[in-house]
Amino acid sequence: MEYFNLNDGNKIPKLGFGAMIKGDEETESAVAEAISAGYRLIDTAAIYQNERAVGRGIKQSGIPRDQIFVTTKLWLQDTGYDATKREFEGSLERLGLDYVDLYLIHKPWGNTFDSWEAMQDLQKEGKIKSLGVSNFYPDQLMDLMVHHEVTPVIDQIENNPLFQQNYSVKFLNDNNVQPEAWLPFAHAKSGVLDNQTITQIAEEHNKQPGQVVLLWLLQRNVLPLVKSVHRQRMIDNLNVFDFELSDKEMNQIKSLDTHTSQFYDHRDPAAVKRISEWKANF
Ligand SMILES: NC(=O)c1ccc[n+]([C@@H]2O[C@H](COP(=O)([O-])OP(=O)(O)OC[C@H]3O[C@@H](n4cnc5c(N)ncnc54)[C@H](OP(=O)(O)O)[C@@H]3O)[C@@H](O)[C@H]2O)c1
Repeated sequence: MEYFNLNDGNKIPKLGFGAMIKGDEETESAVAEAISAGYRLIDTAAIYQNERAVGRGIKQSGIPRDQIFVTTKLWLQDTGYDATKREFEGSLERLGLDYVDLYLIHKPWGNTFDSWEAMQDLQKEGKIKSLGVSNFYPDQLMDLMVHHEVTPVIDQIENNPLFQQNYSVKFLNDNNVQPEAWLPFAHAKSGVLDNQTITQIAEEHNKQPGQVVLLWLLQRNVLPLVKSVHRQRMIDNLNVFDFELSDKEMNQIKSLDTHTSQFYDHRDPAAVKRISEWKANF
């Protein structure tokens, strides 16, 4: 596995396994299977309500803890200094771990400033190795950066050929904050993997459309998180480090941008209101 260097001196695998999977048994076996297939970065979140199953999958894999990079995320009802400390301890207990490699503020809403203070303190205690955010736009990220001691190492944002967020990706790369992509295949049902431009590029390289999308992300210095519950797809999705896309091919994919989220728009007030009502039940 190749690694990206983070701005705090830590390293992160260049491609990760997204564990947003429903069902405890399915999550546990998919995580163990993904690690056995070669993944060393596992991404979960308190709101996925599967941290216990993720922790069991990690143990079941038999791979030593220090060789696996574990990310989890703070949900938005739990922002604020005390709530963040309490919720972080809950995540740690559910995962069955004594530290996480990366802890992210899941959404740029709520009392994120006090959450960040709590996270800085948890990092000093050695319970979190690296601190990051998710779904922050450049202005929100800069606001957090200028008011705090620790700069986020990562911003995990939606990124796929239909929603490329090139302005955010450039801002993150310019500011040494690693961009990480969720929804790389835009749910695999929006046509990304059937798109004629992508299938044609895949054919020319004797590769699969999904592999082309993952490499397109990597060549823009974006770390892909990809989920599959199928072993062969897990293996195929890792097999992207042996070919290269030309500038022409990168530009062909660039032209597919619709500038529209394929999930929900984090700047839409109705979405902010709706999602702010979601609660995790453990
Ligand atoms: N920070 C956030 O706000 C946020 C939001 C959403 C997601 N995430 C993270 O990002 C991860 C990835 O997002 P996602 O899983 O929703 O989206 P995605 O990667 O765009 O799509 C995943 C879908 O693609 C299918 N798939 C995987 N490999 C394939 C292949 N080689 N060929 C064809 N289909 C394939 C999977 O189905 P099968 O399982 O049936 O193979 C799965 O249903 C999540 O698991 C989660 O960790 C973060």
